[in-house]
Parts: sequence; structure tokens; C-alpha cells
Amino acid sequence: MRFLVTGAGGQLGSDLLRVLAGTGHEVAGLTRAELDVTDPAAVEKVVADLRPDLVLNAAAYTAVDAAEADEDAALRLNGEGPANLAKVCALHGGGVVHVSTDYVFDGTATRPYEPGDPTAPRSAYGRTKLAGERAVRELLPERSWVVRTAWVYGESGGNFVRTMARLEGEKDTLDVVDDQRGSPTWSRDLAAGVVALAEARPRPGIYHCTNSGDTTWYGLARAIFAELGADPERVRPTTTDRFPRPAPRPAYSVLSSAGWVAAGLPALRPWDQALHAAFSEVGDALRP
Ligand SMILES: NC(=O)c1ccc[n+]([C@@H]2O[C@H](COP(=O)([O-])OP(=O)(O)OC[C@H]3O[C@@H](n4cnc5c(N)ncnc54)[C@H](OP(=O)(O)O)[C@@H]3O)[C@@H](O)[C@H]2O)c1
Repeated sequence: MRFLVTGAGGQLGSDLLRVLAGTGHEVAGLTRAELDVTDPAAVEKVVADLRPDLVLNAAAYTAVDAAEADEDAALRLNGEGPANLAKVCALHGGGVVHVSTDYVFDGTATRPYEPGDPTAPRSAYGRTKLAGERAVRELLPERSWVVRTAWVYGESGGNFVRTMARLEGEKDTLDVVDDQRGSPTWSRDLAAGVVALAEARPRPGIYHCTNSGDTTWYGLARAIFAELGADPERVRPTTTDRFPRPAPRPAYSVLSSAGWVAAGLPALRPWDQALHAAFSEVGDALRP
């Protein structure tokens, strides 16, 4: 198959390229500098030239708090970007795998969210990501797959794991919120999941893909300290109201993998095993 990976310089995008490198597929990975997905003419030209079987869209506006102050900019990238890709693929015959987020839900559930559960984003970021999901599904209903994920960390960029690894060296103790629950997901495992879906091309629609199991940010921070060889007791539980942020965070973000597994796709390993593997395989990039 021929793949086009957009946002190829990001956490997921760069891991998609790493995973695809071992598959024998033809792959073009384009960073933001090489393809701005908000530019319809540029998207048209690249897709017409490359004629990918599938576009894997890892380009996104992921600055959740900044989006509250500039929802238009977030919408251009998270809404119009995937719409541009879907429109051009509708014309040229390819499909789109578009990556989305747990933030499309309001976080009030008490059991894992299924793909068909009602969406109710509470943040600008969540609203713009939902707009992108809808655009792709409406413009390319027969050849589009939305993959929602959550709590992603990888080798590049700012993420919770790298932040905790830095703070471990700077502070004696650390207060971390213990009232938000989700599934930490290594971008390498997510990339492998996205490639498995792209190869299998199950029924078009919405799928959930995270490492399995769940914890709180506090639980994750303790596990990171343990991976660093530091004492997890230095991490202390606190509550969200002690850390006001511009964008509200969902209290409960766990995504059900039932539909993913029912489609014959491999469940991702438990989050703590993935974290251990990430520190074993790319630990130098996670540590400061
Ligand atoms: N990170 C998470 O915790 C999380 C959780 C749930 C869902 N997701 C979703 O997972 C996907 C991948 O996220 P990620 O963590 O890999 O994000 P990321 O590291 O921020 O990567 C996003 C990439 O998009 C690029 N980009 C920005 N504007 C662009 C444009 N106009 N055209 C093309 N590329 C552009 C960015 O380039 P620059 O760096 O140069 O700006 C960056 O390389 C996204 O759809 C995100 O919404 C992420």
C-alpha cells in the first residue's frame, strides 16, 4: 500500500514513520513545513501527485489550553485540515485515517466510553477535534476511519512523561492530580495500532485505541518515578481544583476497546507495560 503521513514531525507522526519503515509499504511522511494541511491547494497537489491509498492524518493543534484563547486557529487545523484531506481523497480515490481524542466526551461517564456514545466536548480543543471527526465522516463516509486515543506520550514534544522526568530531578516532592482517570498511551503502540487498522481496513467508522487499563495522573507519575529509579512516595495525590487551567479536563477519559477488538484488531498492551517498554527502548529521549 501507499501511505501519506501528515504531521510527520509530531509524536504520533514520527512513530508512524518508524512503524511503517518495517512494513514494506510505500510511505511519504510530510512534516508541517512540507505540507500544511490547512492549505487546500497544497493538499490537492500532494495527494494528486502521490495518489496514496490511505492518508494517516497525525497533524493537529494539540495545545489544549492555548485553544481556549484562539479557537479559530485550532478549528482551522483540527477541523478544516482533515476536511481538506477528505475532500481531495473523495476526488482521487484514497481513504483517510484521522486521529482524534477523548476530549470529544464530557468526562462524566462511570464506564469506558464506546465510539457511539454521545459526544459533548467541554473545551475548544475538544470542539475542534469533533468538527474534524464529523468532516471526515461526512465527506468520505465509505473510506474514512476515526481513531480516538488519549494521554499520548512519545519521544518528541511536550508530554506528561517527559515533564515528570524533568521535575523528578528538580523537586523533592510533587503534587499530582488523582481525580482524572484515563489510559496513558505510548505513541509507538498507538502508531502500531493505526497501521494495523490501516492494513485491515475494517468497516469505516469510529474506533478507540489506547494502551489498556487505566490510572490517574498521580498513578502515572508514580509509575514514571519507579521507571526512573526514584521513590514513588515523593509523588503526592492532589485534586484538579488545586491546578486551575484555561481548558477544563475530562474527569474520566477511559475509552472502550471493545469495538477495536471486535473488528479483529490487536488490543494494545497494558499502559504500565508500555511505559516500561518505552523507558527500555527510548528512555534517553524521555529523560531530560
Ligand atoms: N497528545 C495527546 O495526549 C493526545 C491525546 C488524544 C488525542 N491526540 C491526538 O493524536 C494526534 C497526534 O497527536 P500528537 O501527540 O502526535 O501531537 P503533536 O506531537 O503535537 O503533533 C502534531 C503535529 O502536527 C503538526 N502540525 C501543526 N500544524 C500543522 C499544519 N498546519 N499542517 C501540518 N502539520 C501541522 C505539528 O507540527 P509543529 O510541531 O511544527 O507545529 C506536529 O508535528 C492528534 O490528532 C491529537 O489530537 C493526542
